[in-house]
Amino acid sequence: MALRLTLLTAAISLALRVNAQQPVWAQCGGIGWTGGTTCVSGTSCVFSNAYYSQCLPGAATTVSTTTLVPPTITPTTPPTTTLAPTTTIGTTSPTSAPSPGVCPTLPANLSLVSNAKLPNPFVFAADGSAVTTKNQWTCRQAEISQLFQRYELGTLPGKPASVTGSYSGNTLTINVSDSGKSISFAVSVALPSTGTAPFPAIIAIGGMSIPTPAGVAVLTFNNDDMAAQTDTTSRGQGKFYTIYGSGHSASAMTAWAWGVSRIIDVLENTPTLKLDLTKLAVTGCSRNGKGALVVGAFEPRIALTIPQESGSGGAGCWRISDAMLAAGTSTQTASEIVGENVWFSTNFANYVHAVPTLPFDHHMLAALVAPRALLIIDNTGIDWLGPESVFGCMKTANKVWQALGIPDHMGVSQVGNHAHCAFPSSEQPDLDAFINKFLKGQNTNTSFVKTDGANQLGFVDANWIDWTVPTLT
Ligand SMILES: *[C@@H]1O[C@H](CO)[C@@H](O)[C@H](O)[C@H]1NC(C)=O
Ligand SMILES: *[C@@H]1O[C@H](CO)[C@@H](O)[C@H](O)[C@H]1NC(C)=O
Ligand SMILES: *[C@@H]1O[C@H](CO)[C@@H](O)[C@H](O)[C@H]1NC(C)=O
Repeated sequence: MALRLTLLTAAISLALRVNAQQPVWAQCGGIGWTGGTTCVSGTSCVFSNAYYSQCLPGAATTVSTTTLVPPTITPTTPPTTTLAPTTTIGTTSPTSAPSPGVCPTLPANLSLVSNAKLPNPFVFAADGSAVTTKNQWTCRQAEISQLFQRYELGTLPGKPASVTGSYSGNTLTINVSDSGKSISFAVSVALPSTGTAPFPAIIAIGGMSIPTPAGVAVLTFNNDDMAAQTDTTSRGQGKFYTIYGSGHSASAMTAWAWGVSRIIDVLENTPTLKLDLTKLAVTGCSRNGKGALVVGAFEPRIALTIPQESGSGGAGCWRISDAMLAAGTSTQTASEIVGENVWFSTNFANYVHAVPTLPFDHHMLAALVAPRALLIIDNTGIDWLGPESVFGCMKTANKVWQALGIPDHMGVSQVGNHAHCAFPSSEQPDLDAFINKFLKGQNTNTSFVKTDGANQLGFVDANWIDWTVPTLT
C-alpha cells in the first residue's frame, strides 16, 4: 500500500514537473524531492527507497577481477587546517567504559603520516603503542571514534538536556530540547502480526529494502527530516541543526546517528511499546546504507547492523576505491563524494585528495561495531558501488572480530545480477542466519565472508594489509 501510494505520488509529481535532466549519480525522486526526475542519456532513474531514487549507469554485467594494488606513495603533505579537537564523545562512549586515565590521550595536533595500505586497527594513533587486550581495544575504539569525528564525520553530540516521547497509533513521537531549542519528530512503528512481545525491532533508515523478518517490528526513521541529503546545498538543514545550529560540524550521517540514539532513549522509557531493547537492529540501503553503518558504529545499543549496498563511503574503503578508479573502474571515491552530498563533514574535503594520510579507513568504521554483530549485504554487479572496495574493506574488518575470538559475529554476503537495493532471494539464508542468531537468540551458522565475484574480485590481503591480527586477551 505504502509503495503503491509512493509510486502514485511519484507519477503525479512526474506529470506536474517540467524536468531538467539529472546527471549520473544525482537524485531523481523520493518523498519530498522537488528536483528533476528524469536522467541523462545512458543512465536511468532507479528506485532505492521511498525517500530516494538515483540516476544510475546501466548495471555492469562483467565484474573486474583485476588485482588492485595500492599506489606508490609520493610523500603527501597532510593538510594543515587547524582542527578543533573533539571534546564530546557523547553516546559514542563504549558500553563498558574504560577506567579514566588508562586510555592514551589523542593529541589535538596529531601528525598524520601517509600510508597507502589499510591502517592497522591494533595500534594507538596517540602514542603508537600496540593493542593487545580487550580493554585496550575498547580504548582504541574510543580513539577511532574520535578520529572519524575529527576528520570525516563531524562531532557527535551527547544526550541532550531533555528527551521525552510518547507512543500512540503506531507513531512514536520524540521531543528533544536543549539550550532553549526544541524539536519533535515522528517514527512510524509496524508491529509484527506473529511472534510474542517483547519483539525484536529493526530501525530502518529511510525505509526497509530487506525483507521484513517474521516476528520483528520495524521502526521507520525519516532521516532526511533529521538532516537533509538532497545535494551539497543541504548542509546544515534539518531538525538536528535546529537544536545545534546550521554551522554544527556534524555531517548528515552523524546527525542521523544522533537521531537514532534519541529514538532509543525514548524506547527505554516507553514500556507501552513492547520491544526487546537488547535485540535492536539498524538497516538502510545505498546512501542510507552508509548511514546505517555510521549509526551502528556510533550507537552501542544497536545489537545488529545491516548496511545494504552502501558502497564507497559506507562498507567500501577510500583507499581501495581510489585504486579502482585509478585502474579504470568508474566508482565513487572520496574526492567525488564531497562534491555530491553532505554525508561527510566539511573538514573531510581537506583530506579527499590526500586519502593515504587519513589515520583510518572504513574497515575501522566497521570495527567500531565490534563486538556487536555486523552483516554486510552487498552487490557485486554495480561498479559505482565499488564491489572490490567493499569486499576487501569488509574482509579486512572481519579481522577485528577474529582478534576478539568471534569472527562469526561479522559476515559479508555479496551477490550480483540484481538491481540496486533489490534484495536477491539467494541472500535470504545469509540474512536469516544473522537475524535468527542476533535478534531471535537461535543457534545458526553465521561464519561467512563471501562474494560471488571470481577471484575475490582481485582483492589480495598481502597487497593491502601489512599488520598481523593479535589475539586480544
Ligand atoms: C603537539 O603539541 C605538543 C604539546 O604542545 C608538543 O609537545 C608536540 O611537539 C606537538 N606535536 C606536533 C607534531 O606538532
Ligand atoms: C512533543 O512536542 C509536540 C509539539 O511541540 C507537543 O504537541 C507534544 O505535547 C509534546 N509531547 C511530549 C510528550 O512532550
Ligand atoms: C558454516 O558455514 C560455512 C560456510 O558455508 C561452512 O564452511 C562451515 O563449515 C559451517 N560451519 C558449521 C559449524 O556448520
